[in-house]
Amino acid sequence: MNIEVVRERGMESHAAFLFDTVEAVNESLFTVEELQYIRQQKEDKKNIIVFNRLKHRDFVVILPEKDDNGALEECRKSGDDIWLQLKGEKNRDLCVIDNAGNEGKVLAFLEGFGLGSYSFGKYKVKEKEDVKTAGKVTLISDAVSDAELKILQVILKAAVTARDLVNEPVMTLNARALADSFVKMAREAGMDVEVFGKKKIEALRMGGLLGVNMGSTDEPTFTRLEWKPENAVNSNPVVLVGKGVVYDTGGMNIKTGNYMEDMKSDMGGAAAVGGAIYAAAMAKLPVHIIALVPATDNRVDGNAIVSGDILTMYSGATVEVINTDAEGRLIMADALAYAKQYNPELVIDAATLTGAAHRAIGKYATVGMQAKAEEPFRRLQAAGEKVCERIVEFPLWDDYKELMKSEIADIRNISTGAEGGAITAGKFLEYFTDYPYIHLDIAGSAMVSSRYGYRGIGGTGVGVRMLFRFFRDMAEA
Ligand code: BES
Ligand code: ZN
Ligand code: ZN
Repeated sequence: MNIEVVRERGMESHAAFLFDTVEAVNESLFTVEELQYIRQQKEDKKNIIVFNRLKHRDFVVILPEKDDNGALEECRKSGDDIWLQLKGEKNRDLCVIDNAGNEGKVLAFLEGFGLGSYSFGKYKVKEKEDVKTAGKVTLISDAVSDAELKILQVILKAAVTARDLVNEPVMTLNARALADSFVKMAREAGMDVEVFGKKKIEALRMGGLLGVNMGSTDEPTFTRLEWKPENAVNSNPVVLVGKGVVYDTGGMNIKTGNYMEDMKSDMGGAAAVGGAIYAAAMAKLPVHIIALVPATDNRVDGNAIVSGDILTMYSGATVEVINTDAEGRLIMADALAYAKQYNPELVIDAATLTGAAHRAIGKYATVGMQAKAEEPFRRLQAAGEKVCERIVEFPLWDDYKELMKSEIADIRNISTGAEGGAITAGKFLEYFTDYPYIHLDIAGSAMVSSRYGYRGIGGTGVGVRMLFRFFRDMAEA
């Protein structure tokens, strides 16, 4: 979404007048009668008051009084609310007129409007009319700086890119196409990029990624994106790792019922880390970041891995495959072990890893775990709160480790019981790490089947705003 800063309002567009208090709504803009109406509505706890002006509408938006994270989320919701009111109109141009003078709140309002108005319309052909996107968005504000507005547009672009990737079906987004998308993003944002094909992955002996790929007719890929600015505040990189399972049928342990339905979203982790580093590079943040994405589909075929198979991983460790539907951890383990060579200050992974995480917390938050990364975890959590991509911490206690013991290999790929599935998956991944490590299980938050406010329907792009905020906080510390 392009937001243009203007001095005067075009009378053809709808207008959203933002105020910080109802008292601030003044007579220069509204008649005495209208003012009375506005105050009455506010007393009835309405924060958005609408006036129909024949060809357009004027929205009076009373922003929340508080100045905390909850207030910012309310502003995003108001932006989304206005979008929903414009959605059905032919004219969807909006001019935002800031009378509040609070940069953060105005930006949050625009963010909610921008994210809310996203739609994945490329496959609507005959029914193109169904696709509603925002018209021209203009802003009149003394409080919002050009630099901050630019950053907002970067965030919107990166989040939308991540959502597009999640929404794209595997037919058009296999492992190679996912890697190609990252190459395109890297070129555009000035990042370094390298894509390994099957030969190189074989030479590296990435047994987890190759094992999952055995049931596929498409080759796997392994992508490294790198943003390394000269003025980086960190001397050792932060490495991101994203699960790039472009489709998860479950493999030979095939998913039954409707469990397979949304599994094109099983590369939501890859989209999150790709989107985050893309945003950091576009915004030229002074932080050295590397993103690693192992990618393949998980399918059934003559030579697909089966229960009982033993894989030798990139790290040299052996894994007894008990359930082929626990494939994400197999490809992630190789990437996590690969990350060691960078001597990272911190590794953060994002993966749609377990139904257990989804069941535990729903779509409302991400399940997070950490090893040797208590302090960065708190910072990431704080960043998540700021953008309302919340993280709930689960433990990585060693008690869970025994559940992953194999009789014949170094470790098994699922635990011996069904309890604590998100944690045992985290314990499996931790086995392949030796650095400060944060694991984000976004199985619940990456994809929603009904509209979840400005997060939309389908891919939510979760992780992009949180990680970008984390890097900004690092840069500003
Ligand atoms: N991709 C799934 C996890 C998932 C489930 C993501 C629901 C999003 C929504 C993962 O690969 C998987 O199938 N996990 C299994 C693990 C089990 C076999 C131990 C699961 O959670 O059922
Ligand atoms: Zn699976
Ligand atoms: Zn999966």
